[in-house]
Amino acid sequence: MRAYPFPFFLEFGSKKRSVLLLEITHAELMHISVEPSILYFGTPVVLLSTLNEDGTTNVAPMSSAWWLGWNCMLGLGASSHSGMNLCRERECVLNLPSVAEVEAVNRLARLTGSNPVPPWKQSVGYRHEKNKCEIAGLTSSPSTEVRAPRIDQCPVQLEAVLERHQPFGQGPDKEPGAIAYEVRVVRAHVDEAILVPNSEHRIDPDRWRPLIMSFCRFYGLGAEVFSSTLAEIPEQAYRPAPHMSR
Ligand SMILES: Cc1cc2nc3c(=O)[nH]c(=O)nc-3n(C[C@H](O)[C@H](O)[C@H](O)COP(=O)(O)O)c2cc1C
Repeated sequence: MRAYPFPFFLEFGSKKRSVLLLEITHAELMHISVEPSILYFGTPVVLLSTLNEDGTTNVAPMSSAWWLGWNCMLGLGASSHSGMNLCRERECVLNLPSVAEVEAVNRLARLTGSNPVPPWKQSVGYRHEKNKCEIAGLTSSPSTEVRAPRIDQCPVQLEAVLERHQPFGQGPDKEPGAIAYEVRVVRAHVDEAILVPNSEHRIDPDRWRPLIMSFCRFYGLGAEVFSSTLAEIPEQAYRPAPHMSR
């Protein structure tokens, strides 16, 4: 970062002199220290489907999700019903809605499969709902590798199995409020409309319009902003090495 010299005027006896006290960087001028309650800078929304103990389906919107290869980390509140289902069943489907499904996603907000509703959720207006798919106007179909079903309206459906989980956000002064779940995708289904034309297995980022949650609000993606050096590496080079394969 370039440094900008700032002269300060100090009095020495009767003479006023300009003194270069320090160099303040651009970053120091533009940034202030803040303490936002959340740091949700924008991640894709996932509708996580899991099986309830009685074999019915629970579906929950979540967005603390990231992928590396065919593995995915999911962050869920420690009291989330989905997390309990995932621990017990060890399977789930990550259904990715596009911007077109935003209203259905929003109808699922502030609902939980937990009964009774955990105290914090009660205090901010959540209610228990057993038939979340119906409430949201969503339908489901059987998966091929796992027992949790896929949500038909989502253009991307990733069947996954739980590899491991661990407390997240624990500190010397803090109980863990969340659990990090590592899942492995075992089958990917996508709507053909988001594939690169005449090319199998490649998703076209110009056609895939994910729903993004940023600071609890819904956004889409804009157009591509720059020619990417990373994208010059053929996508094929990212295929998992044999020891990583499914
Ligand atoms: C767009 C959106 C994103 C969300 N992201 C998360 C998340 O990443 N992790 C989480 O625990 N809850 C998240 N929530 C809140 C859950 O949906 C909420 O805890 C819900 O009650 C979970 O349902 P369940 O208790 O039936 O599993 C999100 C909600 C919305 C609407």
